[in-house]
Amino acid sequence: MRLIVAANRAPIRKTKKGWSASIGGLATALLPVLEQHGGVWVAMGEEPDLPERQAFPADDPDFHVRRVALSDEEVDNYYYGMANRVLWPLSHYMIEHMELNPVFYEDYKKVNRRFADAVIEELQPSDQVWLQDYHLMLAPNYVREARTDATLGLFWHIPWPAMEVFRIVPKARELLRGMLGCDLIGFHVDEYVENFLESARVLLGAEVSGNVIRWQGREVRIEAHPLGIDTARFRRMTEEEETQAAVKNLRDETGTEYLILGIDRMDYTKGILSRLLAFEQFLKDNPELHGRVSFYQIATPSRTKLETYKQMKREVDEAVGRIDGSYGTDSWVPVHYRYRKYTQRELCAFYNAADVCFITPLRDGMNLVAQEYVVSNSDGVLVLSELTGASYALPESLSVNPYDHQALADSIREALLMQPDERQRRLAAMKERVDELDVHKWADRFLQSLDSVVVS
Ligand code: G6P
Repeated sequence: MRLIVAANRAPIRKTKKGWSASIGGLATALLPVLEQHGGVWVAMGEEPDLPERQAFPADDPDFHVRRVALSDEEVDNYYYGMANRVLWPLSHYMIEHMELNPVFYEDYKKVNRRFADAVIEELQPSDQVWLQDYHLMLAPNYVREARTDATLGLFWHIPWPAMEVFRIVPKARELLRGMLGCDLIGFHVDEYVENFLESARVLLGAEVSGNVIRWQGREVRIEAHPLGIDTARFRRMTEEEETQAAVKNLRDETGTEYLILGIDRMDYTKGILSRLLAFEQFLKDNPELHGRVSFYQIATPSRTKLETYKQMKREVDEAVGRIDGSYGTDSWVPVHYRYRKYTQRELCAFYNAADVCFITPLRDGMNLVAQEYVVSNSDGVLVLSELTGASYALPESLSVNPYDHQALADSIREALLMQPDERQRRLAAMKERVDELDVHKWADRFLQSLDSVVVS
């Protein structure tokens, strides 16, 4: 069996030393499968002048990357438009951020058609096709129309909202029909599976029994496959001498008894501003802890072309300035804010050093930072928004409603004061769960299920 992956982003990037594999979760999980079985990764061509079809590695190729070249206008409408200004806010229940423009959808359709055409061209009998995420809702059915016997799976990496929310998007039914070209659709947790089944039942009148949708004479299986991280890699990186030296530096530089950590892409779904306001409240409520706690917030730049993201950054910058300005002293910086990218190894040092990881998205499909902290830390506390997929997967976290300002502030104190035996008990249980979710097991489970769909 060869694998054909179709995803918005390519799994390799150009570095000073040449081309190398990306370190993101998806590439980590799927590149070993591609290396073993061969295949093709179809992705958007983000830069001009890159080859349409590229062997990787060039000298002795394991697989090929196939690029769908897009004009700037297409990237604007398909990626920055339909994907990031319509489907992203919709799926995260943030409809106030939706910007509807019919041109977005027109180009989304065109680009999905081009992805599908590339897949069809590459497809050989007995290949498995695995599409990824909300960028490619229509492509499955375009492939299905051309190749009725193809084996098609899709994994949806963000939340699937309640049916009544999903139906807000114009063309909701067309988008659903596009996805139902698949044999198998995966989500992180059962709750998203339920929402999807209900969307298909109510909006399309499809027959649903158990987790199977009968649609146009075919069966589409809808399953929960919670995504994990590369646990061995994080464990290894944490133990390295270089990382441990960085942990020591970090603790020495910070100079406070407690270190609290937040790590996110700079995105309005992540609740960074509410988190900072909660930290400010915590400082107000707990004067005896002033000078003893520091909060590191790392925010990775993301989708910086979009006005909502720029606006959010301004608000976060301002809140950090206000908190440090009002509470900081000559020897104490309450909030250490970093708006930049870090390597995974550098992040491991932060995870290892932090007494509390404070992860409070307003909505998140899974949240892998939570899992990275669990693997890389040895006696800390994970405070986790209950509106994340990770919260279902890690019930031993300290769960909090990110919209409850006072509860968020109180959770910091509760985490800092948690007794060592309780911290250990919770963390040990979560470590076991994170091992079970491991990204390699995730890919195996999904692909095995895709295989069995076809056999049955
Ligand atoms: C989420 C999505 C991914 C996406 C990532 C980064 O995790 O599920 O598909 O790649 O965000 O966003 P970006 O827009 O930079 O690809």
